[in-house]
Amino acid sequence: MVIKHVALDIVCGITSTLPKNEVPEIAFAGKSNVGKSSLINALMNRKALARTSASPGKTQTINFYNVNHEMYLVDLPGYGYAKVSQSVKEQWGKLIERYLHQSKQLKAVFLLIDIRHDPSENDRTMYDWIVQNGYQPIIIATKADKLKRSQVAKHVKAVKTGLNLLPGTRVIPFSAQTKQGREEIWALAEELLFG
Ligand code: GTP
Ligand code: MG
Repeated sequence: MVIKHVALDIVCGITSTLPKNEVPEIAFAGKSNVGKSSLINALMNRKALARTSASPGKTQTINFYNVNHEMYLVDLPGYGYAKVSQSVKEQWGKLIERYLHQSKQLKAVFLLIDIRHDPSENDRTMYDWIVQNGYQPIIIATKADKLKRSQVAKHVKAVKTGLNLLPGTRVIPFSAQTKQGREEIWALAEELLFG
């Protein structure tokens, strides 16, 4: 994918009406701090267009990044962020669910899991929501630079087992630091969007 244009076009909060876009969308889900915004920056070749933070709970809205006027990369709020109240968590959950359920242009959903940790109950719930809405999520195992190369395969297997993935579901190790996995993710995204 040659990146010619990127911009944050649309921001949706819990009270917003979701946009009716004309171009296809790819969404990135995952727990708070897993690296969704960092992945989107890496895909767009930008350092900080999507705001990232070392403390969880940075992205609190659904952000639509326009790429080449051809597609949107959709940054979802993270789940499992301990510092917000139960009612705010529920509102974000409803916002994500509404988006997964309503978007007519959503073509693919990537679910991000930290490669170092076994998937949590929240991760399994998110995986099930995505599947229930008719999508076959692609798993991205983030922060691969934090492991020794020899450890990667073992951790990918733990992610597969922990999410109880159907055989054949792709798990792509990725690092925003080394950009490992970037080309594979773009190739897959383009295939899913444009065949
Ligand atoms: P929320 O917006 O809070 O849901 O988080 P997020 O999933 O968007 O995570 P974000 O991209 O903000 O990254 C969280 C932290 O992890 C930041 O300090 C990033 O620099 C760091 N991080 C993200 N990806 C990687 C990676 O591939 N490798 C390493 N070492 N750190 C990463
Ligand atoms: Mg974020």
